[in-house]
Amino acid sequence: MSNHLIAPSILTADFLHLESEIEMLNSSEADLLHLDIMDGVFVPNLTFGFPVIRQIKSVAKKTLDVHLMIVDPDRYLEAYREAGADWLTVHYEACTHLHRTIHRIKELGMKPAVSLNPHTDVSLLENILPDLNMVLIMSVNPGFGGQKFIEQSYAKIRKLKKMITEAGADTLIQVDGGVTETNIGSLIEAGVDVFVVGNTIFSASDPLQVITNLKNN
Ligand code: DX5
Ligand code: ZN
Repeated sequence: MSNHLIAPSILTADFLHLESEIEMLNSSEADLLHLDIMDGVFVPNLTFGFPVIRQIKSVAKKTLDVHLMIVDPDRYLEAYREAGADWLTVHYEACTHLHRTIHRIKELGMKPAVSLNPHTDVSLLENILPDLNMVLIMSVNPGFGGQKFIEQSYAKIRKLKKMITEAGADTLIQVDGGVTETNIGSLIEAGVDVFVVGNTIFSASDPLQVITNLKNN
């Protein structure tokens, strides 16, 4: 059994009962809490801002893994730290000076990650890989939960795993989008360390059991 991490995404949670959803996750075997921040520009969807993150932080017992699907994230790095982000992921496609952004995230005391959209090749990360806590491979086009897993992601994950091994880095591989109890086993084999799971958990009649199943795969 592998020691992979589970990061439930609350994008498809019941926002009318968000506190009880987070308390459910607090009592689960999940390792992180994945927050999808969308600005309606970088992706065609809009989610939530700093007041909601602060409220979530006040009740969450898990590390906050904040995924920024926004343009020009440099504007808000300090604000996300103050709101409670522990891990902060920016999109390669949204950053002009990625090296500076990653080092600023570190200076603020957060763990930095870079996310790649399905069309963006992992080779572009070669020069920044050792500086990263994690690389997030989008296995759906970002913006919505409940989409179908993009099968080409497997080749990308294997190529990234090879890059990390050859660089002697300890960078984690995270996959995000379309993860299910059916495909998690083959994704672990391909080299994934951290799994973002939304719809598979929040559409289940027993989400706690699904999280346990995913964790003990
Ligand atoms: C999509 C988000 C994902 C999404 C995953 O843009 O980044 O985190 O919520 O949800 P599922 O597991 O439902 O595909
Ligand atoms: Zn996400």
